[in-house]
Amino acid sequence: MISIKSEREINLMRKAGYLNFLTHEEIKRHIKPGVTTKELDRIAYKFISSHNAIPSCLNYEGYPASICVSINDEVVHGIPSSRKIQNGDIVSIDFTVRLDGYESDSARTYIVGDVPKEVEDLVTNTEKALYEGIKQVKPGARIGDISNAIETYAHTHGLSVVEELVGHGIGTNMHEDPDVPNYGAKGTGPTLKEGMVIAIEPMLNLGRKNVCMLDDDWTIVTEDESPSAHFEHTVAVTKTGVKILTGDISDGEKI
Ligand code: MF3
Ligand code: CO
Ligand code: CO
Repeated sequence: MISIKSEREINLMRKAGYLNFLTHEEIKRHIKPGVTTKELDRIAYKFISSHNAIPSCLNYEGYPASICVSINDEVVHGIPSSRKIQNGDIVSIDFTVRLDGYESDSARTYIVGDVPKEVEDLVTNTEKALYEGIKQVKPGARIGDISNAIETYAHTHGLSVVEELVGHGIGTNMHEDPDVPNYGAKGTGPTLKEGMVIAIEPMLNLGRKNVCMLDDDWTIVTEDESPSAHFEHTVAVTKTGVKILTGDISDGEKI
């Protein structure tokens, strides 16, 4: 069942989403060579907690940290550790923030120092693929329209699409209906309606699409060890189109 959120609920989700945005900005300041991924986790935990919110990844199905930090060939769900970020890494940061009972979910991938041009393109094109997906969102559109826009953009730019993990509905729970795959056919899947809220999250690889899980039972890596990027926003279907809930405040917007 896909839940429909009231205007009041969307406003609460925007507040949670804006705190998610601010947390990303706080983490970003600390991403440089030498910092451990555990230090980034600590910074996120403190920032979210000090704003009367909950880092809801922590203990989610036993996940042991507040954020996921996935480096290079790690696609998603990398567990913070004593590993230091190095020049030439790409670093994906993904987490959820729960504020006043509502979840927000967003991910970004950062380039640290010098990377080959093809890796830089992987990162910029994964973010662009996310926005191609977001552009499809409006009442009457189908989930498959989002999926197809992302897949088409990825393939046009020589990137492969991870199929095992998908975007999702979101609200009082981190993961709700519907699934939002990053591949598929236009005109298929559930129809979007005003008040639905979904997290769209392309995971694109420079090499082959295949992924596997490490022995820690969380970290997903590319099978061919090629780099992978991940961008995610939580978005609401509005009367006329779409509103990004995990972005910066836009002109005239009151939170
Ligand atoms: N934020 C992830 C998503 O995009 C979920 C992470 S689950 C965790 O759906 F347990 F690993 F935190
Ligand atoms: Co996420
Ligand atoms: Co998500």
